[in-house]
Amino acid sequence: MSSISQIESLQASLNAALDALRDEMKRLSLPELSSTNPHRHSMDEPGFVCSPRLYEARRLAIAALGEIKNIIQYPFEKVVQQSCAVYDTACLDILLKTGVIDQLADSSVINDGLDVHDLQKTLDLDPAKLTVVLRYLASQGWLQETKEGTFKLTRAALELSEGHGGRDWIYFSTMPPVAQSLLAQITHPEWKHSQRPDQCAFQLAHNTSLTTFAWMKQHPEKLGPWAKAIQAMGDAYHAPMLYDFPWKKFDSQTFIDCGGGLGNLSIALSEILPQSQFIVQDLDEVITKAQPNIANRAPIASQEGRITAEVVDLFAIQPRHGEGFVYLLRHVLHNWTNENCIKMLKNITEVATHSSTFIIIEVVSQPNSLSNATPTQGEIVTLDDLIGSDTYRAITPPPYIPTNFGASAKTSLGLGTHMMGLFNARERSLREWTEIVNSAGLKVVEVHSFRGMVSAIECKFA
Ligand SMILES: C[S@@+](CC[C@H](N)C(=O)[O-])C[C@H]1O[C@@H](n2cnc3c(N)ncnc32)[C@H](O)[C@@H]1O
Repeated sequence: MSSISQIESLQASLNAALDALRDEMKRLSLPELSSTNPHRHSMDEPGFVCSPRLYEARRLAIAALGEIKNIIQYPFEKVVQQSCAVYDTACLDILLKTGVIDQLADSSVINDGLDVHDLQKTLDLDPAKLTVVLRYLASQGWLQETKEGTFKLTRAALELSEGHGGRDWIYFSTMPPVAQSLLAQITHPEWKHSQRPDQCAFQLAHNTSLTTFAWMKQHPEKLGPWAKAIQAMGDAYHAPMLYDFPWKKFDSQTFIDCGGGLGNLSIALSEILPQSQFIVQDLDEVITKAQPNIANRAPIASQEGRITAEVVDLFAIQPRHGEGFVYLLRHVLHNWTNENCIKMLKNITEVATHSSTFIIIEVVSQPNSLSNATPTQGEIVTLDDLIGSDTYRAITPPPYIPTNFGASAKTSLGLGTHMMGLFNARERSLREWTEIVNSAGLKVVEVHSFRGMVSAIECKFA
C-alpha cells in the first residue's frame, strides 16, 4: 500500500476521476452536468453509451467520495443518519404518492418550483409538514430549496416523473415489508439455515407459504407493475448490454431466451443480429404479456416469426435444442438457490448439443476488501489507459478503493440483499458462478464485464 495517507490517496483518486470525467465530457461535446438544471442530461437517457473512460471515472469518483465520507464523518452522526434511513423511503413515497412530484414536474413550474403554500392549495397538505419532508429530500439531492419553503425538482428527481424508468421501478418497490422481516428470516429458529425459496422474509412479511413467484401469480394486479419494473431495469442497462459483448459472432444462430420475461433482451438483440431466431420462454402468466410486447416493440421480427414466445417451465427438460443454439439466462439464476440453478442448467445441458453456448448475464460480485494488486501481479489498468478506447475494461481499484468500488457497488449489493429476502438467493462471485456451471457440466469460457452492474459469463460444455 502506498506510503501517502489514506485521505491524500483518496483525494488524488477523486481528483483524477473528476479530471477524466470532465475531459471525456468535453471530448464528447456533452453539456455541463448540474443537479439544478431541471432538464434531463443526455447522460441520463437509458440509450446513452458512456465511453469506457467516462463510465470508469464516474465509478471511481463515487467510490472515492463514499470512502472519504466513511473516514471523515462523526461516527455517532453516521449511526443517527442510518437509523433515519427508513425515512428516505417514507419521504420519497410522500413525494410520489401525494402527487407533489407531478405538480413540480409541470412545465409551467419546472424552472422556478413551487412554494409549499401553493402545493397546499392544490393538494390540501399541511405546508409545515410538507416542508419537513421536502427539505429532508432536498438534502439528498431530489429537490432544490430555491428559497425558504420553495422547492423545485432536481435532474435526478426527473427520473421519478411520469414516463421514466425510475418511476416504474419505484412504484413496484417490494422492499419495505421484506426488509422489515429480514431480521426474522436470518434468526428464524427453523429457517435460518434454509435455502428454500418459500422460507424467506417475503413469506414472513406476507404471511404466506407460497414462493414469491407463486404469490405473484395469485395477485395478478401486481404482475403488470412487476413486469414494468423489470423492464425498466433492463432498459437502464440496454446500451452496455449491446456494446460490451461480442454478439455479432452468433449472428444466424438460434437464441433461447430462458426466463426471458417480456422478451426485451431478444427484441434488442434481434435488431443487431438480423439473421438470428429468438425464442422467449417463461411462465404462462408472463408469456401472455410477452406476446403483445414483442408484437408492439418488434412488429416486423414478430410477423416474420423471428421472435416467438412460448410457455416453458425451466424446471422441466428444455424442449429446444439444435446445433449452435445459444441459451440466454439474464437475471434468472439470481432468483434461485445453487441447487435450483444447477437443476435449471442441467435441464438444458441434458438435451443441448455440444456446440451450444450458454450466456449467463448476472452481477459477478467482488469483495468489499482492498485490493492487493501490484504491478508485478498482472496488468494495472488506469483511467489514462482508457483514453480513446471504445472497448470497456474495468480499471484496477487504486489504493484504499475496495475491489468492488464500495459506494459504487451499493446498487447491486442492495438488490442482492433483496434477492435473499425474496428468494433465499443472492448475487454471486465468479468462484460461486463457476461452481454452479461446473456442476451442470459446463465451463466458464470468458467473463465480459459491462459498463453497468452486470457481466456476461460465457459458458460451453466442459
Ligand atoms: C428477473 S426476471 C428476468 C426477465 C428477463 N430475463 C430480463 O432480463 O428482463 C426473472 C424471470 O424468470 C421467470 N421465471 C421464474 N421461474 C420460472 C420458471 N420456473 N420457468 C420459466 N421462467 C421462470 C420469471 O417469470 C421472470 O420473468
